[in-house]
Amino acid sequence: MSERAQRFTAVAIVLHWAIAAAILFMLPLGFWMHGEAEDGNTSQGVFQAYQLHKSVGLTILALSLVRLGWRLLNPPPALPPHMPGWERFAAKVTHWLFYALMLGLPLSGWLFVSAGWSIHDDAPLAVPTRWFGLFEVPHLFGLDRASADVREDAADIAFNAHAILAFAMIGLALLHVAAALKHHLFDRDAVLAHMVPGLPGPGESEPAPKQPLRLAVLGGGLTLVAVAVIALGFNAVQIASRAAPAAPYTIEIAEPEAPLAPEATPDPVPGGVTAWRVDQRSSAITFAYVYEDESGSTDFSGRFARWRADIRFDPNDLDGSSVVVTIETGSAITGIAAHDGALPGPEWFDAAAHPVATFRSTRFRARDGGYEVDGDLTIKSETRNVDMPFRLTIEGDRAAATGTIEIDRRDFGIGEGSGDDLISRDIEISWRVDADRVR
Ligand code: HEM
Repeated sequence: MSERAQRFTAVAIVLHWAIAAAILFMLPLGFWMHGEAEDGNTSQGVFQAYQLHKSVGLTILALSLVRLGWRLLNPPPALPPHMPGWERFAAKVTHWLFYALMLGLPLSGWLFVSAGWSIHDDAPLAVPTRWFGLFEVPHLFGLDRASADVREDAADIAFNAHAILAFAMIGLALLHVAAALKHHLFDRDAVLAHMVPGLPGPGESEPAPKQPLRLAVLGGGLTLVAVAVIALGFNAVQIASRAAPAAPYTIEIAEPEAPLAPEATPDPVPGGVTAWRVDQRSSAITFAYVYEDESGSTDFSGRFARWRADIRFDPNDLDGSSVVVTIETGSAITGIAAHDGALPGPEWFDAAAHPVATFRSTRFRARDGGYEVDGDLTIKSETRNVDMPFRLTIEGDRAAATGTIEIDRRDFGIGEGSGDDLISRDIEISWRVDADRVR
């Protein structure tokens, strides 16, 4: 048999380069998003990076299964005769280790997200996995319904395995590339040419015999891979531009220009513009609702574990003040497994399609010894104007603010399915923010 006849099949070549490109894309993406989450960046961009990572990762799993099946049915080209026994053995071990990693890495990631546990906040985090937003991928082994202890342990083990396998993948890929280059540049054999279409093997100068079907699969398949790579790159750039780190929570209080009416004036703040940083340990955004069925009604409450707020507030310049609050809808926690499992789903917050809810102020005014902020509340892409009274006190270097509003969840398309009759339509949203002066 000639060197050319021994090349990998067109299907094997297309799958090889598709999986290789996807893994090369996934490694930096994974490290980047893990780092951002570790730094507390809960922006929409980071959320979308997680969704993209999960979708591409599950695609790699599916392609790797196809590749493995194809490999078992279509033996690869023979290794060159000059290779010593140890090198053949090393090549075999490396290739089978690749298959183990191509399956183990995505499986450990899938197991990790199935646990529904945030290793960053050490708290439940129920985010559905939707494959490129098209359909929901089930959680493995019903883990999301297990106890908090089991989910925490499963998440820790799965994430550690995921990270270790990722490093193993990097090591193996470096070894693999080095070996391929050694074959091509030093041994000058046809090993690299087996996998690179158009690359002539050593001593090959005649054109390859025409095989129209092979050329069609190679051309079509590799073009698809190239288009997918460009689309992923484009997506990644867009995601990165949406992933500006969450602005620290600040309340900027400008030099007073005119004294306020005494009842509207919090403790005076001396000095110039002052920034305040939110103290997440004692700050919270909570929600309360009533569950009612034939056996009676029960009050429930929950909180959003991840949110950020950018506040510019000056009691002497209410017209110039503004607040933007961004809440990660998938971070809603009630502590009741059945509710936590349902909340991120399409009927309730639809966290995959609408990862964040926002409040943007339009006007501040002094009211009843406190304040009121009017603004646009957007949940599931529905925007309503709300007026929210709040209290603010500033003592030395510490500011504390509290407020409450009631919303009709149907205004935002929340819970219009099976839970509509069981859960109260009015939902109370309360917040408390403690902030420290930043000098
Ligand atoms: C071959 C496919 C995959 C590769 C190469 C890959 C690679 C990585 C890497 C390098 C990291 C960062 C690890 C660290 O910081 O130490 C990571 C994190 C992560 N991966 Fe994957 N991954 C793959 C598949 C998947 C799949 C299929 C899922 C889920 C369905 C997944 C979910 C995750 C999650 C959620 C994290 C971040 C954990 C966190 O920081 O909260 N991965 N991945």
